[in-house]
Amino acid sequence: MTTFDIATRTNKLYINGEWQESQSGETIKITSPYLHEVIGEVQAITREEVDKAITFAHEAQKDWAKASIQERATYLYKWAEELVRMQDEIADIIMKEVGKSKKDATNEVLRTADFIRYTIEEAQHMQGESMRGDSFPGGSKSKIAIVDRVPLGVVLAISPFNYPVNLSAAKIAPALMAGNAVIFKPATQGALSGTKMIEALDKAGLPKGLVNLVTGKGSVIGDYIVEHKGINMISFTGGTNTGSHLAKKAAMIPLVLELGGKDPGIVREDADLNLAAKQIISGAFSYSGQRCTAIKRVLVHDNVADKLIGLLKEEIERLPVGSPENGSTVVPLISNKSADFVEELITDAIDKGAKLVTGNIREQNLIYPTLLDHVTGDMKVAWEEPFGPVLPIIRVSSDEEAINLTNESEYGLQASIFTKDINKAFSIASKIEVGSVQINGRTERGPDHFPFIGVKGSGMGVQGIRKSIESMTREKVTILNLSE
Ligand code: G3H
Repeated sequence: MTTFDIATRTNKLYINGEWQESQSGETIKITSPYLHEVIGEVQAITREEVDKAITFAHEAQKDWAKASIQERATYLYKWAEELVRMQDEIADIIMKEVGKSKKDATNEVLRTADFIRYTIEEAQHMQGESMRGDSFPGGSKSKIAIVDRVPLGVVLAISPFNYPVNLSAAKIAPALMAGNAVIFKPATQGALSGTKMIEALDKAGLPKGLVNLVTGKGSVIGDYIVEHKGINMISFTGGTNTGSHLAKKAAMIPLVLELGGKDPGIVREDADLNLAAKQIISGAFSYSGQRCTAIKRVLVHDNVADKLIGLLKEEIERLPVGSPENGSTVVPLISNKSADFVEELITDAIDKGAKLVTGNIREQNLIYPTLLDHVTGDMKVAWEEPFGPVLPIIRVSSDEEAINLTNESEYGLQASIFTKDINKAFSIASKIEVGSVQINGRTERGPDHFPFIGVKGSGMGVQGIRKSIESMTREKVTILNLSE
């Protein structure tokens, strides 16, 4: 059996190590965001098939939990090797499916192979601990606690469209190394790339049933799978609304949620403005700003705002815009709906008095990089996450104002602070409610072994390779009671 029917361009489900069509007889068409044509189809799975996939996963997990770390490592090393071997083929699908340039798509595949290898090595070096009973008042030396980490069972990995391979493997690899089985539900737009990645895992010879790929309609299987009693942990990356809905549906199981952001670039009066401009442009406009960690607003001191805006405008007007096949940085957004939303934010701001510095041109779902000055708190773009290439400038007159504006956001993913005063940088960093602060650099998730945290509406739990493995295990304590 193969993953794909060439004649119909229809991808299959991967359940218990078999590529199969759904009994529903239905498929979902995937349209490329820039070719504007159907490039493939994925299966619309039924609830009964979800039940079967979860049952197979539990069966497979029993033996996998007993397998040594070295044995698990063998399969995952092969998976990483296959991804590297298939890099061109996978990158081509990523480019066509989510409209990312071939270079960025290839980097995504290679970053994933590195991620898998580091995950293996991290898991190989994770140890439990032992505790003496007599450290506590009245405790006895004859008691020794052995604290180990054990797998949770079946992990549900739900990935987004913007990193259809990397953010999928970033859940699957730690889950497997920790001894879990996986139900993998990719974003529908992203499922063709996700399927190719699973093909690499299949070629690595992973035991049947350990990873099951389910694709389908959210209305049929979305809540069903999240509420399923056979799911023992959920790792989700996606929008804040979906994430908070999911958190309400999932009962009494650990959740790790990586959600939206409204990351500010705080530019102090003493900043190196050339450095700040370069980092802000790369942070805001790479892949058209379709990253949770994109810089989504600039809070700049009024005394340097004009100079910064001049530099930003110059850089923006040099950005390549257009098809990902030409290596463009600013590419068509994932859907027309997304472009409509970004356009609405721009129009609302201009209507309320923001000054358009550059941009605000739209061709279908392609929005040119847009810079808005004099954005104020009554404008939606000051607070909402566009997931598109629009950057609002909010002028401030003090660090306190920048701190307050940062903290008034419903989000708390990352923030960048640009300054030459390291003491001020640390002082601001300590006062802002975000998971990570970048000093003199753009907001971003990597390197992937750093802890990655969203607070408030930006998420729950911690990722980053070691933290992800920990989140997919629980501590188990065995206490030795020695006789004297
Ligand atoms: O979209 C969310 C991703 O986790 C962002 O990752 O900072 O590497 O682009 P990135």
